[in-house]
Amino acid sequence: MKSVKIGDIKIENPICLSPMAGFSSLPFRIICNGMGAGYCPTELVSARSIRYNGIGKSLRYMRISPEEEKITAIQLFGSEPEDFEAAIDTIMATPVLNEVTIIDINMGCPVPKVVKTGSGSALMEDPKKASDIVKACKKAVSGLSRNVPVTVKTRTGFDAADKGKPDFAKALADAGCDMICVHGRTRPQMYHGESSNEAIALMREAVREYDIPFFANGDICDIDSARKIIEQTGCDGIMIGRAARGNPWIFEQITAGLAGSEVQKYPDADERKHMLLRELEGRLKYLPEDVAVREFRSVMPFYLKGLDGAAALKVKLCSATKTEEVKEILDLA
Ligand SMILES: Cc1cc2nc3c(=O)[nH]c(=O)nc-3n(C[C@H](O)[C@H](O)[C@H](O)COP(=O)(O)O)c2cc1C
Repeated sequence: MKSVKIGDIKIENPICLSPMAGFSSLPFRIICNGMGAGYCPTELVSARSIRYNGIGKSLRYMRISPEEEKITAIQLFGSEPEDFEAAIDTIMATPVLNEVTIIDINMGCPVPKVVKTGSGSALMEDPKKASDIVKACKKAVSGLSRNVPVTVKTRTGFDAADKGKPDFAKALADAGCDMICVHGRTRPQMYHGESSNEAIALMREAVREYDIPFFANGDICDIDSARKIIEQTGCDGIMIGRAARGNPWIFEQITAGLAGSEVQKYPDADERKHMLLRELEGRLKYLPEDVAVREFRSVMPFYLKGLDGAAALKVKLCSATKTEEVKEILDLA
């Protein structure tokens, strides 16, 4: 894919990691960046919580490493423009976080706990509020000495009958949003059923006249599905979520496949185990060992899927509490 510009920021390879709560940890994002992902946003973080409680507890979800990631993006969710403005002010007053490249707004989360508060996908039902949030974010970054683009990630609808929300996409663009990414499912679909490239395309067309890049997301799991979503939606970039879990090599493979270059084979067991260990070692840089090992347990099954003896390995790894134990179990000691 051709490079794109989000605001002033050049994304060399617009094949990016889609934010995933519980998976978009800093170590995983660094790994995906190393595999060629254009950039990798953090998972969603509550703007309201940052406003009222400061960065404190939220840091574990929004830790960035400008040195190792180069382009960083923090994703915020919320329902009140003032919460976003205050959260961005706090982020920009916090060392390291204040180097963030992009602020992304979540307008797609389907989880009832989030939707009930008027956040996430609920904003699709309130284009005025959604626009005000974009404007509030743009205002918050306007006083900075550098350009910080504001992007939105959303879905193709709030109701099951929705087949794309072109007017909503237009409202976001009119409000000054610097990039829109659309996941081709409606809120009630959560992560089930098929992602609709047709519905994404409708939203893409609606904002074609605006000079902002448009990203598509949903069900990209290999070179063919990547090619299909690009052809069918006319998007400028793609985001890959679930298929990247335990498989950061997907960025390398899809990048090569789309460029017509030779595609590396899927990594063997040893390489996968080493990568899994990197996820743990990355966490040890900023988490106590017991917490790092606990977090590592939820990503571990994705790396071991399909390996000989995976079931037994998983059972053993679930009872490990120390890095050394993990290494021994993986035969990497
Ligand atoms: C476990 C999980 C957590 C997710 N968390 C977020 C999130 O924090 N922010 C967000 O915008 N989307 C989130 N998503 C949605 C994904 O970014 C993506 O839009 C969706 O999974 C469809 O893409 P895929 O088919 O490539 O997985 C999450 C999805 C999953 C499965």
